Amino acid sequence: MTATYEVRGKIAVITLSNPPVNGLGYETRKAFCAALERAESDTAVNAIVVTGAGKAFSGGADIKEFGSPKALAEPNLLSMIGMVEACSKPVVAAIHSVCMGGGLELSLGCHYRVVAPGTKVALPEVKLGLLPGAGGTQRLPRALGIEPALNMIVSGEPVNSELLAQVPGQKLFDRVTSGDLMEEALAFAADVADKRPLPRVRDLKARHANPEAFFQFSRNMVGAMSKNFPAPLRCLEAVAASTTQKFEDGMRTEREGFTALMFTPESKALRHAFFAERAASKIADVPDDTPVRSIAKVAVIGAGTMGGGISMNFLNAGIPVTILETKQEALDRGIAIIKKNYEAQVKKGKLKEDKYQQRMALLSSTLNYADIGDADLVIEAVFEEIGVKEAVFKQLDAVMKPGAILASNTSTLDVNKIANSTKRPQDVVGLHFFSPANVMKLLEVVRGAATAKDVLATVMQLAKKIRKTAVVSGVCDGFIGNRMIEQYSRQAGFLLDEGCSPQQVDKAAEKFGFAMGPFRMGDLAGNDIGWAIRKRRYQEKPDLNYSKSADLLCELGRYGQKTGAGWYDYAVGKRDALPSPVVAEMLEKHRAALGITPRQISDDEIVHRLVYALVNEAAHLLEEGIAQRASDVDMVYLTGYGFPLWRGGPMCYADTVGLFNVVQAMKRFAKNPLDDAKFWEPAPLLARLAAEGKSFS
Ligand code: NAI
Repeated sequence: MTATYEVRGKIAVITLSNPPVNGLGYETRKAFCAALERAESDTAVNAIVVTGAGKAFSGGADIKEFGSPKALAEPNLLSMIGMVEACSKPVVAAIHSVCMGGGLELSLGCHYRVVAPGTKVALPEVKLGLLPGAGGTQRLPRALGIEPALNMIVSGEPVNSELLAQVPGQKLFDRVTSGDLMEEALAFAADVADKRPLPRVRDLKARHANPEAFFQFSRNMVGAMSKNFPAPLRCLEAVAASTTQKFEDGMRTEREGFTALMFTPESKALRHAFFAERAASKIADVPDDTPVRSIAKVAVIGAGTMGGGISMNFLNAGIPVTILETKQEALDRGIAIIKKNYEAQVKKGKLKEDKYQQRMALLSSTLNYADIGDADLVIEAVFEEIGVKEAVFKQLDAVMKPGAILASNTSTLDVNKIANSTKRPQDVVGLHFFSPANVMKLLEVVRGAATAKDVLATVMQLAKKIRKTAVVSGVCDGFIGNRMIEQYSRQAGFLLDEGCSPQQVDKAAEKFGFAMGPFRMGDLAGNDIGWAIRKRRYQEKPDLNYSKSADLLCELGRYGQKTGAGWYDYAVGKRDALPSPVVAEMLEKHRAALGITPRQISDDEIVHRLVYALVNEAAHLLEEGIAQRASDVDMVYLTGYGFPLWRGGPMCYADTVGLFNVVQAMKRFAKNPLDDAKFWEPAPLLARLAAEGKSFS
């Protein structure tokens, strides 16, 4: 049963019962409406209490039904709420824990609302590029007041029930309970059982002293803050309609807005990202009920750039960390940086002093492997050299307790080789954090040939605890993200050879929506990193060609921001990227030496060469089984590489453009004598999908 019915005294209790959060799917709606009809016709019943079983009143629409005909099948959410509102007996919502989306809209159709303190209340539809489509934009402003309702609807953020109950003049909650919710709701229902007429939120007026000025001001604010996302402004217009239009007309405005948003590429991209994140946490051959190992203590090897940031993730989650280094100075330096990071957060008011102290108290350090043997998980973040890593893993093999998970943060090295330097390759896994590791959401979980399933299940669960988006990658050079970015960078280099300036390429990429173009990114990360990788590639893959412009830049000592000069010039102590005459001259000479006549290249060509390079390489990764699913690739790029969220990731973007068109463009690029025709041969998977008129999703 997805909704249960019982009678207590003269009160019928209808309980939504669809775990985990009482999503209002078709079966639940049907069961709920049947229960409501039963209560209405039962002469022994004089009032009705509606509540939710388990850990929510209701989390809203059932996400499993999203976009399917079931979501609209009658009784749909609007009809269900209409039935509640039209019920001849008082309906009291007994709200607790989570009351979101359609759940809140359902409660607003009830005649009364009794709420437990600490309930998270939200209309989060805007986060999926939508607006609340079951009366939320019309009823919440009437019940709560225009300003707080607009804030909730435009931000989608949850607000605590006690805070909402304090809003002056609010009619959202009739009572905040102090004891048992159900007992108080039953008593409340008994009190109001004979009261008529029944209060309806739709009959309230959404008032504001100066609505025109308020909405104009809000339009400017919301418009500026939601560039590239149409939903927040649509939300605003629907809320504005609640003040200027009759309830039924406002409902029509809401419906029109909802339908229009449903078909925007932005909403499609946001919904794609929402489901992609959930899908990424699943591993096809690792069942959800795989037992996990307990992780109560962590050790980190290396207190450099990555080791410090990695440690902070665990300290933030309340897990003790011991950092090991080779020298006391390196330890002191690493710990000082962790302290500095936390102190900056305290200064900005983002972290309370006592929390900072608690976190630091969880941190210890050592120069001695014997001190970390009892850790449940050890993460190595030492220099990126296979010899150094193998030596560290041999030591770990000798001292770590049986069953400890041994992880490497390597960004390019062979995790299988590292695993095989131990006698327990089944316990070895790659945990590839991104810099700054305490900030970036992405965690690539690198699955070695021997990595045990319970190790994978454990680190996927742990990733959630430390608030990372984990994506599983097989072993290959660069894993998912960096292997793809190499092709993107190669294209960026060819574009320079052919006539673009770094600023032209960056501008086009940033206009498309990348957080940073490839050259500004190179200057930030350090151009010497790519240089070192290319030097290795020249030996390993002599047939793979690169533009030599980035090597010439490094030969000038222009490593980026850290040396005060890279693709751009930087004023001392500043990060503003200024076009560099030195680089312009260097590129001119370079082209002349190659006999290239520079040509004008459109922004479209720039962006498509960069993005389709990612897409084609990703198609190879999927075929090789390195990436599990196209949406995983999108998660990597959305959370680790600044790909614009409203485009849903490179694969979602390619699907939107149409794979046929992507392949056509690649064929054109292949004809360019200065590009790499072999690379632009569509990966077999991409070619097949395009030929069959299919998409990655
Ligand atoms: P780093 O040079 O800042 O830090 C490395 C630290 O390891 C140094 O403090 C060094 O003293 C210590 N160390 C070296 N050998 C050691 C040993 N045998 N035992 C204990 N400590 C030792 O390097 P970074 O940038 O932190 O990189 C570490 C690892 O993380 C590398 O594998 C790198 O590829 C990977 N990585 C780096 C990223 C970055 O953006 N910096 C991003 C993702 C991964």
